[in-house]
Amino acid sequence: MLFSFFNRKQKSASPEGSPPATGRDIVQRNTLLADAFAQGRVPCQQCKFEIPMKGLQQLRMVECPACKAVTFVPLQVGRFWLFEPLGGGGMGSVYRALCSEVPDQYFAVKVLSRIEKTKPANIHALLNEARIGKLIGDHPCLVKCVDSGCQNGEYYSAMELVEGERLDKRIDRLGRLPELQVLQIGLHILAAEQHIFKCGYLYRDLKPENIIINNDGYAILFDYGLCKPRDEALHPQDEFVSGSPYYLPPERLLGKGEDASSEIYSLGMVIYYALSGQTYFDADEVEALAKRHVSKVRLSVSSKLRGFPEDLVELLTKMIRQEPEERFQSFHEVARAIRAIQESDR
Ligand SMILES: Nc1ncnc2c1ncn2[C@@H]1O[C@H](COP(=O)(O)OP(=O)(O)O)[C@@H](O)[C@H]1O
Ligand SMILES: [Mg+2]
Repeated sequence: MLFSFFNRKQKSASPEGSPPATGRDIVQRNTLLADAFAQGRVPCQQCKFEIPMKGLQQLRMVECPACKAVTFVPLQVGRFWLFEPLGGGGMGSVYRALCSEVPDQYFAVKVLSRIEKTKPANIHALLNEARIGKLIGDHPCLVKCVDSGCQNGEYYSAMELVEGERLDKRIDRLGRLPELQVLQIGLHILAAEQHIFKCGYLYRDLKPENIIINNDGYAILFDYGLCKPRDEALHPQDEFVSGSPYYLPPERLLGKGEDASSEIYSLGMVIYYALSGQTYFDADEVEALAKRHVSKVRLSVSSKLRGFPEDLVELLTKMIRQEPEERFQSFHEVARAIRAIQESDR
């Protein structure tokens, strides 16, 4: 079995600089925090003064009247208290959240951007993303959506929180990653992709920003915003091209159907970036960048990855071929090729 090689466990988070928190510390901290929030107070992160929340704008920073440090004003949606921003920007934002019914765990809850939270298209997209996350998320390398809904006009999607480091941030921090680590990440993502495919979907947004390396070293894929049923991906009707111009397959730009080989192309681009610290194509304008994927003129992987072992160059060359039929055709095939490299004498 190629894809049944792990059992994900979450390690607990501890705030920067403090000793690792035990399960009991977390339960205690979260229970106190949830109680304070429920009573309409937000404890200052610096001096612990409990700031009255009444009249404060939620999901914004506020200055502590006692010590002037800034603290985040939480928002309650459903069973969750969203109390720390994690990221986002486009349609929505994601927050670390706690739920008083499950005080030993954190969640990642996505809500729509403040100015566009009533736009029907955004509401539909968020709920669709949550529905897909519930349907396909049961896999050690995928984020599962655990709850979704609407309370007081606030739509939300609650996911399990992955503690770790986003792949793009890790590459930024280290410049580039060692070959064996990149191959392992590749296998995890292939396992996730294979599971999504088996569930009848295609992921369609593979990029380092959508992968977190968790504290046990597993690559976890999240963000199902562009995920589509396979049949729809194969027969696209979209007017607009979505996706990161660094990693998207040429067939998306050409309005042609996408299949497993399209995901393999994007994964090849991600692997190249992780190995070299540079994207395969670059340009100042998005349009120019997109055109590189479909241009007949291309530098070979071997000329761009000078000094890298031949088998690795061969692997990437076949993953990112412009014509889908010249690439690997299945995730299993790529996984087999990666395993052969891992097992070779290096
Ligand atoms: N389940 C999660 N666990 C931890 N962090 C998450 C999780 N989901 C999202 N994030 C953080 O929130 C950011 C935005 O989430 P994402 O779903 O990628 O939104 P967008 O559609 O704006 O790209 C991510 O880049 C990541 O840093
Ligand atoms: Mg994303």
